[in-house]
Parts: sequence; structure tokens; C-alpha cells
Amino acid sequence: MDVLGILTAGGDCPGLNAVVRGAVVRAIERHDAEVVGILDGWEGLVHGRTRSLDRDAVRGILQRGGTILGTSRMDPYVHADGYASVAETMQQNGIDVLIAVGGDGTLRSAWRLAQEGLPVVGVPKTIDNDIAFTDFTFGFDTAVQIATEAIDRITTTAEAHNRVMLVEVMGRTQGWIATYAGIAAGADAILVPEEPYDLEEVADVIRRRHRHGHRYSVVVVAEGVPAPEGGLEEEQVDAFGFARLGGVAYRIAPHIERLTGFETRVTVLGHLQRGGTPTAFDRVLATRFGVAAVDLAAAGKLSRMVALQGTEMVDVPLGEACEAPRGVDAGLFDVARTFWG
Ligand code: F6P
Repeated sequence: MDVLGILTAGGDCPGLNAVVRGAVVRAIERHDAEVVGILDGWEGLVHGRTRSLDRDAVRGILQRGGTILGTSRMDPYVHADGYASVAETMQQNGIDVLIAVGGDGTLRSAWRLAQEGLPVVGVPKTIDNDIAFTDFTFGFDTAVQIATEAIDRITTTAEAHNRVMLVEVMGRTQGWIATYAGIAAGADAILVPEEPYDLEEVADVIRRRHRHGHRYSVVVVAEGVPAPEGGLEEEQVDAFGFARLGGVAYRIAPHIERLTGFETRVTVLGHLQRGGTPTAFDRVLATRFGVAAVDLAAAGKLSRMVALQGTEMVDVPLGEACEAPRGVDAGLFDVARTFWG
């Protein structure tokens, strides 16, 4: 392997720069390879926008949020001609292997391209933590930390006013952030897409608390839960035609207020959860992913995705990893439920 390409695609995520730094340093120091950074995800590969990444290009970025390469939600199959549209940039830059850092959409595109002949290795990225075969994705720990701190703060103002607070967190199809942050902050109820919810039951939990003298209740809501009338909040789409979630808690709040009689307010954390510096855990995990992906590429083990299983760095078939998202397991959700009310 002489030349390695790397791109970051899909929603950004704290730790992307740590992956890029890990990959670049490993490639240069251990494999004597050159690294080409592809700008703005698949968009850069389609339109030939690249930059060379040497050791100096990745100094000082370990703790920075965002991605020095830029990202986009462009999909080479939806918005371009698939393999044909990326082949020229690969050839022009002499890229032997591409490292694609992304969530389920990016990994699915990488897998389709791999089937057409693109030499690729995947790195799982998403604050949602919902990629199969890896126990954690980087960015998740940071998002949970931010959400937990926010819920802690919301709790004290809720108590001062005897209010019910709904805190909406990210989680497109799976409720990992809601479950972890809910457990960590002692939420009184947690709504996730994996588990059907019953507003009567939630109202009951809240009424019981307040009858016992507690002056506040906090409910964590994953953005991907269906609105009470049914259907996801999917009216809006982004520039690439993908559904824009966010705001379902505003549809739930009036029901809770009506059922409990307590003033119910909403905070949507949104992109706060994706911004800023990664936690130490995410920096280490992202660095390990970057290093492992380069080692795989150098060993010629293509169409694989790096993954964390237990404490071990392993690799799994890319095609299988992007088949279906990984939901919160029932046992963990049951732990969270134990503390409702
Ligand atoms: O998939 C990660 C994620 O952060 C989701 O939780 C969220 O729905 C989505 O990205 C938001 O993406 P965008 O920034 O493109 O609106």
C-alpha cells in the first residue's frame, strides 16, 4: 500500500479528527505510506476535491470537534453514478485503499462500492451508537456526557418551578443516548424508538412522584420516537433529501401537561450533542479505530470494518455490519426502567 485515501461522511461526530490523526500518523510512521484526505465526504471523491495529509497537517487536531476534512450527507448512489463517479478521483490520486469513516449510510455506500471493486475499509462513526458488531462508536460517550450535564442542569430549574421537563436528545432510530443519559442523570422516564411508550403510564409515574412531595419530573425523549398521533416528525428534509428529525417532544408535552396537570416544558439539545471536544474515551477509541483501519488496509484485508468488542479491536465484514442498526438491549432498558418515578 503506497497511498491511502481517507474521508469522513455523514453527520459529524466528536472524534473524527482523532481518527484522521490516528490513521495519518500510523500510515506514515509504520507503513511508509502517503495519505490523501478527501474533502466533504463522498462529495470530494465524486468531484475530485482532495488535500494531502502529512504529519504536520494533523498536529493539534486530536482534541478538536468537527472534521478537518469536512463532511456532507452526499450519497454516491443517490446523488451521483455510484462507482463510476468515484473511480476517477481514486485513479488520479493513485489511492490504493480508501478508509471511509461514517455511520450506517456511509458504510452502506462503502459496501456497495466495494462490491463494484472499490478497495475500502470502514470505520464506524455516529453519536447514535447504533452500528452492529461494535460495542461502541466514538462520539457516543461525548454526546452522553453533554446530555447528562444538560439534564442535571434542567433538573434544578424544574425543581424550583415544580415543572415537568422533557429533554429531547438525538437518536434517529435507536435510543442509546436517551438510555445512557437517562440512567446517568436519574431520569423519571425515558422514551426510545425501540420500545412502544404509553403516555398514561408516564403520566402515572409523574403524578406518583409529585404526590410523594417531589417538585419536578424529567423525561428523556429520543428524537426518533413516534409522535403521539403517530408518524415520525419527518416533514423537513436536508439539502440531500434526508429526513430532518427534532422536535417530537413538543408534540408529546401537551399530552403530559393535560394528563398530569403540571406545567410541562421542552428542551431540544440538538447539535449541542455533536459539537466541541471529544471525551478522553472517544479520543482513545477514535485513535484506535484510525490505527486499526490503516493496519487492515496495509494487510490487504479489505471490505472489512474495524470494531470494538469488549476491550479488543477486531474487524468484521463490512456488508454484515451495515445490514441493520443495533438497538438498545432490553436488559439495559430494564435497568433504566427500574429507576422511573
Ligand atoms: O445520525 C447521527 C445524527 O446525529 C442523528 O442522531 C440525527 O438525527 C442526525 O444525525 C442529524 O443530522 P443533521 O445534522 O444532518 O441534521
